[in-house]
Amino acid sequence: MRLQALSIPLLLSLLSSSTAYTQISDDLLKTLIPNPSDTDFDLSPSNADSLLGPLLITRVPGTPGQRAAQEHFTRFATKHIPEWKLSWQNSSSPTPLSKGNPVPFHNIILRREPPWARKRGEGNVGLLTLAAHYDSKMIQGGDFIGATDSAAPCAVLMWVARELEKVLGRLWGDGEDGTGEGVQILLLDGEEAFVSWTDTDSLYGSRALAAAWENTTYPALSTFRNPLRQISLFVLLDLLGSPNPNVPSYFQTTHWAYQRMATLEGRLRGLGLLESKPMHPFLPDGAKMATEFTRAFIGDDHEPFMKRGAPVLHLIPSPFPEVWHRLEDDGAHLDMATVRDWARITLAFVLEWLDAGKLEKIQT
Ligand SMILES: *[C@@H]1O[C@H](CO)[C@@H](O)[C@H](O)[C@H]1NC(C)=O
Ligand SMILES: *[C@@H]1O[C@H](CO)[C@@H](O)[C@H](O)[C@H]1NC(C)=O
Ligand SMILES: [Zn+2]
Repeated sequence: MRLQALSIPLLLSLLSSSTAYTQISDDLLKTLIPNPSDTDFDLSPSNADSLLGPLLITRVPGTPGQRAAQEHFTRFATKHIPEWKLSWQNSSSPTPLSKGNPVPFHNIILRREPPWARKRGEGNVGLLTLAAHYDSKMIQGGDFIGATDSAAPCAVLMWVARELEKVLGRLWGDGEDGTGEGVQILLLDGEEAFVSWTDTDSLYGSRALAAAWENTTYPALSTFRNPLRQISLFVLLDLLGSPNPNVPSYFQTTHWAYQRMATLEGRLRGLGLLESKPMHPFLPDGAKMATEFTRAFIGDDHEPFMKRGAPVLHLIPSPFPEVWHRLEDDGAHLDMATVRDWARITLAFVLEWLDAGKLEKIQT
């Protein structure tokens, strides 16, 4: 019953978002996918210009590290992507360790809509949704940094937003044609369990956000009923930054999106635009058959959204990185070529989704 209920919105969004794409030509890919600078993913927490460094601290909800991470995001957004609308979704909840006291959870939402949609008001444009959690797990007896979990994925999304913004002006122009989609980035709080993973001790931020969005109703004549319905695809990045990641295709319903990304990975490698030399592609499941999909999936921030009908592409390696939930999950154990390649692959995927292939025509 539950699967059947899910399949209807999944099918609808699949239909609405698979309309004509122009493949991005090799030449255009070369100009649109830049090399991250040395500063972008510098590991020093005191390097305020680095997207990653300031996140390589403990970021446990209710502690100063949580606030420092938030300030890093807001400073970044103000400086580099002022065109994006920043909003908060705050909640609080006791945890098994808080002795009944509420612990604060703060999700940050960065949203960029095409000009025509902004004029028409909220709720009228589909949004490619990219998400990662910024809280770090509390581990007794040490400072757990969570570099792959998920400082690096957050930094990747910041880089993607900044580089994408450099293209959007040209791509959208005055953007009066009323077509295409926008993008939003969710920096989620409270993903980690404080004691051990249960339905109530985990996913504090994403559960609160999905519930709040379900309750937000857009005006009657809007294209979408609420912010959940606006999600054309929910792409969740987690546990990325270790070498040789193996990210399977988890869901048959979004396998087509996985295939797009896997194809882009292969094209970028072929063009010499990626720098890692993994033993196998990051996304090896492009040819997975319908019969090979199982019901198994990994519990993570996509769940509260998937339950409510959002189509999900889950970018999490299986097996998990060797450093998973160990104090070794720090900057020193990241494979920086892999981190930068995830940034390039994600940017290429977003650009293709937003039909940047048509820039060829605009330029000539
Ligand atoms: C949410 O919390 C942040 C950080 O404390 C604060 O700056 C913001 O104003 C709050 N927003 C809302 C809508 O409550
Ligand atoms: C959603 O709305 C229902 C009914 O009005 C209310 O009981 C519930 O507390 C709301 N939930 C959130 C997360 O706002
Ligand atoms: Zn974790």
